[in-house]
Amino acid sequence: MTDCRQQLQAHASRLAGVSLGALVRKGGRRDAALQWQAGPVTLDARHQRLDGEAMDALFALAEAAGFDDARKALLSGDIVNPTEGRPALHAALRDASALKDRDLAARIEAARARTAAFARACQGADAPGGQPVTRIINIGIGGSDLGPRLVYGAMKAFRRPGVDLRFVSNLDPADLEDAIEGADPETTLVCVTSKSFTTSETLMNARAAKAWLAASLGEDGANARMAAATAAPGKAESFGIARERIFPFEEGVGGRYSFWSAAGLCLEIALGPEVFARILDGARQIDGHFATTPAERNLPLAKALIDVWNRAGRGRLARCVAAYSTRLELLPAYLQQLEMESLGKPVRLDGSPLPAHTGGQLVWGGKGSDIQHSFFQWLHQGVDEVPVDFIAVKALYAGGDERAKALGANLVAQTAALLDGHAGEGPLAAHKTLAGGRASSVITLERLDPEGLGALIAVHEHKVFCEGLLYGLNPFDQWGVELGKLLTTDLLSGNHSRFDGASLDLARAFRL
Ligand code: F6P
Repeated sequence: MTDCRQQLQAHASRLAGVSLGALVRKGGRRDAALQWQAGPVTLDARHQRLDGEAMDALFALAEAAGFDDARKALLSGDIVNPTEGRPALHAALRDASALKDRDLAARIEAARARTAAFARACQGADAPGGQPVTRIINIGIGGSDLGPRLVYGAMKAFRRPGVDLRFVSNLDPADLEDAIEGADPETTLVCVTSKSFTTSETLMNARAAKAWLAASLGEDGANARMAAATAAPGKAESFGIARERIFPFEEGVGGRYSFWSAAGLCLEIALGPEVFARILDGARQIDGHFATTPAERNLPLAKALIDVWNRAGRGRLARCVAAYSTRLELLPAYLQQLEMESLGKPVRLDGSPLPAHTGGQLVWGGKGSDIQHSFFQWLHQGVDEVPVDFIAVKALYAGGDERAKALGANLVAQTAALLDGHAGEGPLAAHKTLAGGRASSVITLERLDPEGLGALIAVHEHKVFCEGLLYGLNPFDQWGVELGKLLTTDLLSGNHSRFDGASLDLARAFRL
């Protein structure tokens, strides 16, 4: 595997001294070459420090990495996660027809039918407690939390009336306290969402939630209101969840890719199976685009190449995601897990070390225009350039509300300010100058509906897959998170052998 930096650095040096504003204003073929469309999503990368030659070098990297074979392998269910010996089945959850393993496809379809039937039952007298569910408490962490949380927030306009979904992820008891506030145990359903069913945060919170139910309803009443979504149904059963309310999903579904599976059970109940199916439809549209569109017009691949360009070509460690939509407020946090857990790896698939300045970016961000009044100062005048992805929702800004129109104007103004900067004047000119020349992209969603949301998320999933391919790493494992879990267990069980003095001082101060 070659070091992709070598192919990119000549272009990065050539373009480093060029005025980005002048490059952008060239227009013509550059304009067409740096815009992509996939279903309801468009990517406008004209404000990136890129030209035709650099793009050609990037597409050559994709070809050399075997893009065509790799996407086929992903979508047909081949083992693309060799360190865990698993396929990556998130696209198959949207459409299992491309899977080579027909039994697996049948299991996925049966699982989908089961969750949809249960979600419908929760609306009426067939609900676990004999009355419609009014409060769902999803207990999970990481991918078992962030996906459902993002979708529930984004789909506020599509929620079923009379049902409130709350989330418990953190071990701070305040999390559960807030989730049960005002809830009637009789009409509450606790969904324990955990792929492994071993995550200590989730199991401790699930025990606490069960104790809360049992305090009013007794042990049997509590059990009747607990459900689980997991790839380890045996463990859920041993925990005490009744078999008929355990909704399995496949080992090949990664945690951070899992809400499309039974891990989205809480969403399916809170939004209704029809809305949930529309989210899958939107993602399926992107899967189709990703599978069949040639590399040069393939939006997820293009986005991956741009991020590789900024990271490996231009040495930009971080990327900011600025979502100009209140309902997409959690998108930066969601993408942070998707990207950083997938691409934060030290080695390639063959175990050789990744070269410096390659691998996933540090992803962070927030909601525009609020963030303009907090950290955007740093983006405009800080010493480091950090590329920004602006996430736009066209129908919101174009819908006639003057505040929404101004929100869209803020977004456009920020892209222009980053591009051209401003020459300060007077005695404080140096302080008032914004250098400009700072790269950004705009990812525009036609409208924030279930199809659009599904498409937006699927674009990023496939983008992450392509980045893994370009760097030659495995985006589907996450060995780096295990050590902390072991050390916590050691500490709580009194095994101090691996701790230094400062850490033990802390443990004593916290009375652990
Ligand atoms: O610790 C990281 C992680 O394994 C994530 O990958 C995962 O989404 C999360 O923990 C929760 O895991 P589980 O769904 O198995 O409880």
